[in-house]
Amino acid sequence: MDTLCIKSQKQIPAIISFLFLSIILSINSVLAQDGAKLFKQNCAVCHSLGKNMVTGPGLEGVAARVPGDAWLMKWIKNNKAVIASGDAYANKVFAENSKKDMTVFADFKDEELKAIIAYIKAPPAVVAGPSPTPNQPGQAPEEKGVNPLAILLGVIAFLIIIVGVLRGVSHSLKNLQREKQGMPEVEQVGVWRELKIWMGTHKRTMVVIILFVICGLLSATWDGLMGIGVYEGYHPSQPIAFSHKIHAGDNAINCQYCHSGVEKSKTAGIPTVNVCMNCHKGISKGPSGEKGTAEIAKIYAAAGWDPDKGAYTKPQTPIIWTKVHNLPDFVFFSHQQHVKVGKQDCVTCHGEVKETTTVHQDKQMTMGWCIDCHRKTEVPGMKDNPYYESLHKKLAEKYKGQPITVDKMGGIECGKCHY
Ligand code: HEC
Ligand code: HEC
Ligand code: HEC
Ligand code: HEC
Ligand code: HEC
Ligand code: HEC
Repeated sequence: MDTLCIKSQKQIPAIISFLFLSIILSINSVLAQDGAKLFKQNCAVCHSLGKNMVTGPGLEGVAARVPGDAWLMKWIKNNKAVIASGDAYANKVFAENSKKDMTVFADFKDEELKAIIAYIKAPPAVVAGPSPTPNQPGQAPEEKGVNPLAILLGVIAFLIIIVGVLRGVSHSLKNLQREKQGMPEVEQVGVWRELKIWMGTHKRTMVVIILFVICGLLSATWDGLMGIGVYEGYHPSQPIAFSHKIHAGDNAINCQYCHSGVEKSKTAGIPTVNVCMNCHKGISKGPSGEKGTAEIAKIYAAAGWDPDKGAYTKPQTPIIWTKVHNLPDFVFFSHQQHVKVGKQDCVTCHGEVKETTTVHQDKQMTMGWCIDCHRKTEVPGMKDNPYYESLHKKLAEKYKGQPITVDKMGGIECGKCHY
């Protein structure tokens, strides 16, 4: 037992320094990401980090050609003012770029400007490589988020290794000492046997663990049985690795930019390849480097676009997306009714789409789910909506002061949802 204590005491400094290191690493990458994120949200539409021109010039080596960091801060914050001040360099770039407009970013704070500038000067892909590769401006910086699960697994794996090594070391030390004292060597007890002994001496803990495992198995079986015919969580693979996180999340593109049907028709609609091309004519690389470039190339193939010539050279072929949500044909559901009239948020029915890389069905979408919400949700704006004026008067009299939920205006009649 004594040696066990010593053993665990020895582990403490190792654990602490490891945890400390991982915390420092993650903080560091958060700071680095800030600049990266700001750049992608605000600048990537017009600037690449390489040499190639998008709308504005490629920003590789820009810090060396401009008059200095203070100039960069002023320029990014309000390029119009710098040009108007008669600044020679600013007027030169402006003229060289046929007087195209760069956006003014008056709201940026100094720290944000500094983060962006630090990122432009040393995008991660260049820092990480042994030699910066000026010939390949194509390499977009990879986003290096630290996955907390990966850290946890890393720590666990590390601890297992440490424990294993310390066990071995302590065992041979013990034997060395015994040898000195002229005693025979003892054999190392196997991990299994030690575990068995531990289980024998910790019966109560074992009962708790076993109960947990049984409950887990039971609940998994139950969920499995209830889930037959319910496609919650369904997420098929798609012809192009389209990420809502990159578009609707990181780049804050409005859902309706792509799903333009939500306010005017029954279906939300999936964007055509033309919609993708509105932006992707200029954006040929994504945050995931080569993989993203290959995926964007699929858009070009579908659109018949030749990025080298900068022209449509072949006929279009539609992208065949796999539908994630599929209500049976005998059910009537309208997005317009829920989004525009009913003022329901996408998140309520689809979950945090903008946080996920692949869309999955977030809710059960059974009849019970529809009806449950109709029973609970008050019809929004009924009072002020002229469309509902007479209906509202009638219902208000009938239900005196009670909130008027969807079911009260007939929202759970079979015919409303079934043809
Ligand atoms: C709407 C397109 C657009 C956006 C968005 C944009 N820029 Fe620009 N940028 C330009 C253009 C065009 C120029 C060339 C100068 C001109 O015509 O005004 C330029 C010039 C520059 C220059 C000077 C380049 C050189 O070669 O000296 C820097 C630095 C710069 N932009 C940084 C940024 C940063 C940082 C952001 C994001 C915060 C940003 N730009 C967002 C279009 C844009
Ligand atoms: C840049 C375009 C774009 C934007 C912005 C966008 N989407 Fe999408 N969305 C797509 C494409 C393309 C698909 C089809 C591929 C897929 O399912 O991943 C899709 C699929 C979906 C689906 C699954 C459809 C099905 O097959 O049943 C849902 C739900 C969805 N989007 C919701 C949203 C929400 C909510 C937002 C805003 C937070 C949003 N989308 C923003 C392009 C976009
Ligand atoms: C409103 C502008 C806009 C539209 C529309 C748009 N994208 Fe994007 N897309 C972006 C931006 C911005 C990026 C990220 C660029 C970066 O971070 O370097 C991106 C990146 C990508 C990537 C690379 C992802 C990666 O992992 O590297 C793919 C693939 C992609 N888009 C597919 C599509 C498809 C398919 C459509 C049409 C359904 C579409 N995009 C429509 C702006 C747009
Ligand atoms: C009240 C719940 C609800 C809300 C709110 C809602 N949706 Fe849907 N959505 C659904 C259901 C149910 C389906 C499946 C429809 C089907 O299969 O006929 C669906 C399907 C979709 C699809 C697949 C294509 C289609 O039109 O069938 C997209 C894309 C989509 N929704 C996007 C959105 C966006 C974007 C918003 C927010 C502006 C939104 N939805 C709000 C329930 C909702
Ligand atoms: C998040 C809550 C919510 C969910 C989930 C929901 N609805 Fe609704 N629904 C509403 C609201 C709110 C209205 C009232 C809109 C209005 O003012 O007309 C409504 C109205 C309706 C109406 C019109 C009712 C009438 O009396 O005119 C139909 C039909 C309908 N929903 C079908 C469905 C179906 C089918 C589903 C499931 C696939 C569903 N809804 C899921 C909130 C929801
Ligand atoms: C708010 C909308 C709504 C109303 C009201 C509604 N249903 Fe449904 N019903 C659905 C949806 C959605 C499904 C599909 C469920 C699924 O695919 O799991 C469905 C499925 C069904 C089914 C097929 C069996 C099943 O569970 O999949 C039957 C039968 C049915 N409904 C009967 C009725 C009857 C009878 C009424 C009137 C008492 C009614 N429904 C009212 C939305 C509704």
